[in-house]
Amino acid sequence: MRHLSVPSHETQRWLTLCRGRGWLAESGVVALNDGQRGLPLSPHAPDETDVVWEGHAHLDVEPTVKGPQRWQDRLPEELRHLPDDLWPSAYELQGDVLMVKVEPAVQPYESAMASAMLEQLPNVRLVCADEGVEGEFRVRQLRLLGSRDGSTSTRTQIKEHGASIWVDPNEVYFSSRLSTQRHQTLETLKAFRQTIGRPLVVADPYAGVGPSLPLLLAADDLLSGFLVGDLNPKAVDLLAENLRGWVRAPSRFSPSSVVCNDALAWKDEAELCGQADVLLVNLPHDSLEHLPDLFPILRRDGFSLVRGWAIVDRTALAEQRQALEASVEAAGGRCADLVFEEVKGFSSTRCFVVFQVTVAWD
Ligand SMILES: C[S@@+](CC[C@H](N)C(=O)[O-])C[C@H]1O[C@@H](n2cnc3c(N)ncnc32)[C@H](O)[C@@H]1O
Repeated sequence: MRHLSVPSHETQRWLTLCRGRGWLAESGVVALNDGQRGLPLSPHAPDETDVVWEGHAHLDVEPTVKGPQRWQDRLPEELRHLPDDLWPSAYELQGDVLMVKVEPAVQPYESAMASAMLEQLPNVRLVCADEGVEGEFRVRQLRLLGSRDGSTSTRTQIKEHGASIWVDPNEVYFSSRLSTQRHQTLETLKAFRQTIGRPLVVADPYAGVGPSLPLLLAADDLLSGFLVGDLNPKAVDLLAENLRGWVRAPSRFSPSSVVCNDALAWKDEAELCGQADVLLVNLPHDSLEHLPDLFPILRRDGFSLVRGWAIVDRTALAEQRQALEASVEAAGGRCADLVFEEVKGFSSTRCFVVFQVTVAWD
């Protein structure tokens, strides 16, 4: 079949031109030798001598065969008659682990569904039924439906903002939904670092696997130390492993503590108190209630920054904001600056808010 041979960096330009003029054939782009790409041409495309091709050659190459576009098209013949809307329309990926809600009507066919998904999605290793979150660690209950290579471990690595992060959706909470917030945390801390004129010690007592940290640790001269932890021992194991990957020179950071404890008990450990310039509070159902017990973690000298996330009744927004101000004052501080705003993109009758307080200790 006739293909137009173009340098790979020009593929997009030629695809646009050929598609626009109706000269592309149905099959896909073919990789040729020497970094060239072959674009399949329909019989209507002008022949090789036409000036429109700018001298690029036409080659006779075997066309690529396009596979099915959807995993549903890979289901066994005997299940194809089932209505399309029976099948789940969405799934979530963490690394190479795919998690999908399986309605009771799909359960008899779940293993065929997992095989079709594995066939369609070459980067997926495990397909699991997502049976919802449970317990104080808000960990997902997963049920294995299919494995590409016989492995069953849900431990996997994801990439966020260029950093590799070990996660395990069956053991530890992680969500990519706050990824934009993590970027904003970086920008906020950079500005705060300028305000106080020295690198910061950050405390993240509900750190999970630590997704807030790689951006902060990688920023030039932003952090001088960290105190991080979680109550879930499995999260702390992954957090410690992640930190080994993110912190190239551990001696650069002091303190550099990784704690497995209840955040409410940090106030009872002298070495965890009075050192942090910044406190991150990410326990959205309880952040505001926990806050009074967390103030002892902060260094009471000049200014501190508290940044957290909470789920709040829409009707109680103003009240919660006042309660936040009151808890800062009860701790002996003053709200020099206070942000309390809804995070867009979280749909619920309750709202998900980010709060940020610059506390002055004067
Ligand atoms: C919403 S997750 C946030 C995790 C992480 N910061 C992130 O953004 O992915 C809350 C974390 O707090 C931990 N946790 C729950 N109660 C805790 C407590 N009392 N003290 C410390 N950690 C707690 C959970 O295990 C979970 O990892």
